[in-house]
Amino acid sequence: MSETDGRTVLAAEALGKGYPLPSGWLQVLENLSLRIGAGEAVSIRGESGSGKSTLLHLLAGLEEPDRGEVLWEGEAIGRWSAARRARERGRRVGMVFQAPHLLPELTAWENVLLAARIAGRADRSARDRAAELLERVGLGDRGRQRPAQMSGGERQRVAVARALLNRPALLFADEPTGNLDESTADAVFALLRQLVLEEGAALVLVTHSERFAGRCDRSCHLERGLLAGGNGVE
Ligand SMILES: Nc1ncnc2c1ncn2[C@@H]1O[C@H](COP(=O)(O)OP(=O)(O)OP(=O)(O)O)[C@@H](O)[C@H]1O
Ligand SMILES: [Mg+2]
Repeated sequence: MSETDGRTVLAAEALGKGYPLPSGWLQVLENLSLRIGAGEAVSIRGESGSGKSTLLHLLAGLEEPDRGEVLWEGEAIGRWSAARRARERGRRVGMVFQAPHLLPELTAWENVLLAARIAGRADRSARDRAAELLERVGLGDRGRQRPAQMSGGERQRVAVARALLNRPALLFADEPTGNLDESTADAVFALLRQLVLEEGAALVLVTHSERFAGRCDRSCHLERGLLAGGNGVE
């Protein structure tokens, strides 16, 4: 167990977010609150268009809410400048999407290490960790291959290793197993879950899968802009 157990690492307080559409205002999230502790995995489900990706973008600091606040390890990120937010995101946040988004001209190992380069600390220990994570995702001997020479599941495992490189306190995954067959999806999910537990991070997983949701500590449902089951910790 991590020494940070029980601490709230991610909080959203009364978030509101909407978009102007030609047909009028679309209120996507309304007064949404959420708390997640270290080592905790929370799933978010909901119909297509219910706002799952929007919520993830707000929680990851990629978009700003119209109302409310997002707190990373107790700090309100909306008070930071855009530059500071980007810097802190590089250090504290890992993201995995449905598609791996690897750079085709880089090898698997270089793609993983890219996370450290962007955070300005591609030192010896980052290089060692990149190799260790590739090992953990079962690609220890594939580090020198480029994405075009890898299968979809292998690429997604590289993306998972990259997301974890900087030991993020917060890990966001938006349907990370959506493009994978069942057994590869199982392996990717188990790995995310395990690494988050080991490192005392918090995982927010958007998934359509009841199976994976059931294997998270908490399962939330997004409907009409509100989250059912979102308040946890303590
Ligand atoms: N930039 C934008 N401008 C206008 N509308 C947007 C914008 N981004 C998202 N939306 C709308 O907000 C709603 C929520 O979108 P979002 O992508 O969060 O849904 P989702 O739950 O992730 O759906 P899916 O399961 O299909 O990925 C949708 O109706 C979408 O059309
Ligand atoms: Mg989505």
